[in-house]
Amino acid sequence: MALARYFTRLALATSALAIPLHTRDNNGPSGGIRWGSCDFESAGTGPIECGTLAVPLDYTDAASTEKLTLSLIRSPAQTNGTVSKKSILFNFGGPGYEAIHSLNSAADLLHGGVGETLTFSCFETATDRQLANYKYPLLDVDAHESALAETFANMQVLTNVCHERYKNSTNPEFLGTAFVARDLISVVDALGEDGLLRYWGFSYGSLLGATVAAMFPSRMDRVVLDGVVNANNYYHRFGIDVDQLLSADAAFRAILAQCIEAGPARCALASLDNASTVADLEATLWRAVDRYRKGPVAAGTVDVVDTHLFRELLFITIKYPTNVAVAAQHIRNLVAGTNLTEAASYYRALSEGIAMPDDSLYGISCSDKFPRTDSLAGILPDVERMLETSELFGSQIGSIAAVCPSWPWAAKERYDGGFAPGSIKTKTPILLFGNTYDPVTPLPSARNMSAAFEGSVVVEQHGFGHATISQASACTAQVLRAYFVNGTLPAEGTVCDVDSTLF
Ligand SMILES: *[C@@H]1O[C@H](CO)[C@@H](O)[C@H](O)[C@H]1NC(C)=O
Ligand SMILES: *[C@@H]1O[C@H](CO)[C@@H](O)[C@H](O)[C@H]1NC(C)=O
Ligand SMILES: *[C@@H]1O[C@H](CO)[C@@H](O)[C@H](O)[C@H]1NC(C)=O
Ligand SMILES: *[C@@H]1O[C@H](CO)[C@@H](O)[C@H](O)[C@H]1NC(C)=O
Ligand SMILES: *[C@@H]1O[C@H](CO)[C@@H](O)[C@H](O)[C@H]1NC(C)=O
Ligand SMILES: *[C@@H]1O[C@H](CO)[C@@H](O)[C@H](O)[C@H]1NC(C)=O
Repeated sequence: MALARYFTRLALATSALAIPLHTRDNNGPSGGIRWGSCDFESAGTGPIECGTLAVPLDYTDAASTEKLTLSLIRSPAQTNGTVSKKSILFNFGGPGYEAIHSLNSAADLLHGGVGETLTFSCFETATDRQLANYKYPLLDVDAHESALAETFANMQVLTNVCHERYKNSTNPEFLGTAFVARDLISVVDALGEDGLLRYWGFSYGSLLGATVAAMFPSRMDRVVLDGVVNANNYYHRFGIDVDQLLSADAAFRAILAQCIEAGPARCALASLDNASTVADLEATLWRAVDRYRKGPVAAGTVDVVDTHLFRELLFITIKYPTNVAVAAQHIRNLVAGTNLTEAASYYRALSEGIAMPDDSLYGISCSDKFPRTDSLAGILPDVERMLETSELFGSQIGSIAAVCPSWPWAAKERYDGGFAPGSIKTKTPILLFGNTYDPVTPLPSARNMSAAFEGSVVVEQHGFGHATISQASACTAQVLRAYFVNGTLPAEGTVCDVDSTLF
């Protein structure tokens, strides 16, 4: 399942909206947002409204009259009886759309469907995509001796498929984060408030936030980057963020430590033989992973349990640790060789749940990137960087560097102003968050981006998973309130504990 799988992997790294919210529309309204009821049920308790806004398809061409229709959803914030007059725009980065209702801030919740300015699909049907993914997979770097070379060729074929499908279309040129950044500003203009952006972006949304803040520094009222991608890497190297795995091994080991501490009653892995220390449990797990390399096992009518499946399950578990105790039972079964069908379908459901519905994210991130190469050698340094930074997961994620090198399009506008230290002075300094144990958007990437933004502050949430929403923290909530309400930044070096344990 290469495309869907590397979408999963793009999602692991940066993610984008899972819901296609845009349709092409040449006759949309020329200004203002039309709000009305939504054609889907609110997942939360608060009321929601949906709206549309027509924006230019091509911001680079003042003569062009073609429009895109953005879809927006908002939830009015109940600030003590009165509805706030200032909106906050969110980009959730990942498929976690339902999270909108768990957020509660002092302003309107306004979700801009800005992860996809255009739907982009290289395949006629989902089945076609799935078949192509099986035929041209993104292999683990260590799957076999020439796995990376094979993956490189596979990705070229998939790129050719996209090219064939869109060769007469200009749409791919309008995929790109700089366009989405301009869409955010269009939304701000249409809201008719104070002309300033209030924004909270997770994962890919952090890359978007860094980009809009760099392009429009004087229009930034509040910007929160949460689960931060290193934009220098994103724009200028292969893969998503070659430093994305910096905390992955530490995250894995810290979760094992929590498991051992919780004990067998709460963490099934603690009941394995030879699991009394992190090193023992890790060795036990990795011996089992290797056993499936030598002997993959059929599980039911759909799945084969192999090294890839096992490692993916481990990785998804540390990225989304909410149900880690359930995952631990399945992982224990993989080690013991019992109930494999259940374990494999558990993994399959998880990975289907985070798969992308189309190829927009692929299109956006490949069109955003500057480098191209037609040789395997060209991507090797970036693959090696990922192998070097994570001995446990590098070989599984590293082949992501093979996805974009032969992409035939470049976004018509790309932000190329860079993120040199101290080079960007926003109207109000920005606030960044990184979790201690985020396996895909590590704290060092948040610090790296912070260096570019004068006066910005990084808060470390001392917890697990991808971005702060993966664990509740009253401290983080307080920091966010003070920032959104008053623009107050916490002291440099602030560390927020989380309010729950994993097991
Ligand atoms: C809410 O409004 C009431 C009455 O206007 C006021 O007494 C109270 O302090 C307000 N609470 C907050 C949290 O602002
Ligand atoms: C693309 O354009 C070429 C030449 O204009 C034409 O021959 C071809 O049929 C078009 N392909 C598609 C998929 O529309
Ligand atoms: C337990 O794990 C350690 C690695 O931490 C390994 O050296 C040792 O052989 C294992 N013991 C057993 C009984 O499997
Ligand atoms: C295997 O699955 C069955 C049925 O779901 C369950 O009753 C049993 O406890 C499981 N065994 C283990 C070792 O998880
Ligand atoms: C940020 O990351 C880029 C790309 O890896 C690197 O070149 C740069 O030196 C880093 N900057 C800081 C301040 O860490
Ligand atoms: C905002 O500042 C005011 C005045 O200093 C203070 O009373 C209030 O508690 C602050 N609000 C938040 C959410 O920090």
